[in-house]
Parts: sequence; C-alpha cells; structure tokens
Amino acid sequence: MYDQLLTKNKTIYAVAPCMDWTDRHCRYFHRLLSKNALLYTEMVVADALIFGDVERHLAFSDCEHPVALQLGGSNPEKLAKAANIGADWGYDEINLNVGCPSDRVQSGTFGACLMEQPQLVGDCVDAMKQVVDVPVTVKCRIGVDEQDPQVALSALAHAVFDKGCDAIWVHARKAWLQGLSPKQNRDVPPLDYGRVHALKAEFPDKFIGINGGLQSPQEALGVAHEGAGENLNGVMLGRASYQNPSIMLDVDRVVYNDDSPTLSLEAICEKMMAYTAGHLKTGGRVNHITRHMIGLFQGQVGARRYRQILSVEASKPDADERVIEQAFAAIHPKTPAVA
Ligand SMILES: Cc1cc2nc3c(=O)[nH]c(=O)nc-3n(C[C@H](O)[C@H](O)[C@H](O)COP(=O)(O)O)c2cc1C
Repeated sequence: MYDQLLTKNKTIYAVAPCMDWTDRHCRYFHRLLSKNALLYTEMVVADALIFGDVERHLAFSDCEHPVALQLGGSNPEKLAKAANIGADWGYDEINLNVGCPSDRVQSGTFGACLMEQPQLVGDCVDAMKQVVDVPVTVKCRIGVDEQDPQVALSALAHAVFDKGCDAIWVHARKAWLQGLSPKQNRDVPPLDYGRVHALKAEFPDKFIGINGGLQSPQEALGVAHEGAGENLNGVMLGRASYQNPSIMLDVDRVVYNDDSPTLSLEAICEKMMAYTAGHLKTGGRVNHITRHMIGLFQGQVGARRYRQILSVEASKPDADERVIEQAFAAIHPKTPAVA
C-alpha cells in the first residue's frame, strides 16, 4: 500500500488511533464520510490478542477497509504473534505504538518510552515483518523528556527502516513521561512540524506521515506540502476527525482527488440506523454507536438539539435506532454538513 503511494506521489489521510474513540462503530461511521481515509483501531496490547478475547478486540465490518491495527508492546516475539493474528483477521496494516505516554503503558515498557530504545523497536518491526505480508508501520513522537529530537527521531527512523518498516507516522511533539498527563501530552509540548520535514529530507524515499494539531484536510495538506524538499506522504488527524467529523466529507475530494459523490446526509442517517439495528440484535446498545456521531453537525442550526437527542435519548434503556432519525430531523435547514 505504502510503496504504491510513494510511486504515485499521493497523500494518505488517516484517522489517528484513539483509545475509547476509534472502535469499530466509530470506524463504520467514519467510512460513510470518506471512502478513502485510512482508519486505525484503538491500540490493542499484544498480550490481549495472545491471551484474551480476540474477537472482541479485532472484529470489524468489511466496509472499514483500509483499516490498520495498532498494537502496543515491546516483546518482539509477542508482537509477531499478535501481528500474525491481526493479519489473519484481515487488517490491511499493522502499526506499532511508540507514542503513547500513559503510566499504564510505561509500566509495560511500551508506547512513547520506546523512543529511548530504537534498537528494540527495530527488533519488534523485524519480528512482525517476518510473519506478515501487510505493511508494518510505526507511530512515534519526535522524542521524550530531555532527548534531542533531531537525534532521537533520526535514530528511531534508522532502526526501523533498516528492518523494512513501511511507514513512520510522527506525532510532531515530544512526550514528557513524568509530570504530564496523557491529555496534557497531546497539547503542552510544542508542535514541531519542521522536525518531521527534516526527517523526510533525511529519508526522501520513505513514507513519512505527520500528526498533531491538524484541524482539516485542507490545512493538513498545506502542512504536508510546506517543506522545502519532498512533500510528506500522509496526514493523520485524531481529535479533529473525531470531534468534528464533517471535515471528513472533504477528504475524498481534497486529498484523493476523488470527485465521486459523497453520501447524502439522508443516506448516512439510513445506514447508521440499519447498522444500529444490527448492533441491537446482538445485544448492543444504541449509545455505543451514537456517542461517536455527536460532533457531526458542529456549528449548524439545530446541532444542540441533535447532540442532546444523541446523548440523552440514545442512552435510555429502551432506545432504538429511530433515535438517530429523530436527531437528524433536528438539523434545520437540511443543508449539507459542509457548506
Ligand atoms: C482520546 C484519545 C485516545 C488516544 N489513544 C491513542 C492510541 O491508542 N494510540 C496512539 O498511538 N495514540 C493515541 N492517541 C493520540 C492520537 O493518535 C494523536 O497522536 C494525538 O491526538 C495528536 O493528534 P491530533 O492533534 O490530530 O488529535 C489518542 C488521542 C486521544 C485524544
């Protein structure tokens, strides 16, 4: 996937892996907004796939493709096993988390603290590459704590590209492993997009994607193309995609030059109702799904009522899929989500 993109000089738009957000219901919804965006799972710890309920972690809908599985871990053997399981389930890419700074993650020696162990990350990539045919990629920071980002990011990139890593997605800020919460670590350390462009200059033939603070596909493309050298190969938007999903209605046209029509809001409503009805039949609840749709009409007349219906009505024990229709009906006038 990444090799083809490099030769075609296209750009990938990815929805960032987000714990508690980018579950299969969220990804189903996002796929209705963009046919082409690359969708990431939440991080799944390798042990959870080796010893846990694989179906609960990995089941997804066919329409989610292209969909990438993000793994957490630092034991090459376990990561290889988990990657193999993920590839068998049909994931299009296996990604290793080298960016998450939470205490839970640090105590398991994975996530952002692996920025300090580039050779180990290289070994993890190597072990996964040996057992799967799909791309193996890494998502990282520009450094942690007192590391010099130039040295740290370059060392990590050398270590993983040497082992055949297919792409690196860089969250363009440091993580501070002591003293900042995971949430603060997504805002407080300053963004340094220039560092990611410098990495691309060092590895012009490799896929380098950028993440962190990007608000729209248009802005993200601008950032990807603003360096003096080669363009960055991908843009990854987490909070903006999730909290303001209507920006994704622009992705196919703006990022992929795909002018085929996006789904109408009526069609999105109908598809989400049918999907929700299916989920209810398996014992699920409406708000497992509707919680991901709350940001859709941000800024439009009726959005407050829409949100209220999706959060309050959808949480009632007897709620069913019709609550989605009711929420969409609150939007007046029925204009497209993106003007
Ligand atoms: C609620 C939430 C959960 C996250 N969980 C993960 C995760 O599981 N794996 C990961 O690599 N990054 C995770 N992140 C970080 C995002 O992938 C992304 O790197 C970060 O939010 C910066 O991008 P943004 O400014 O576009 O949101 C999470 C972010 C948020 C907001």
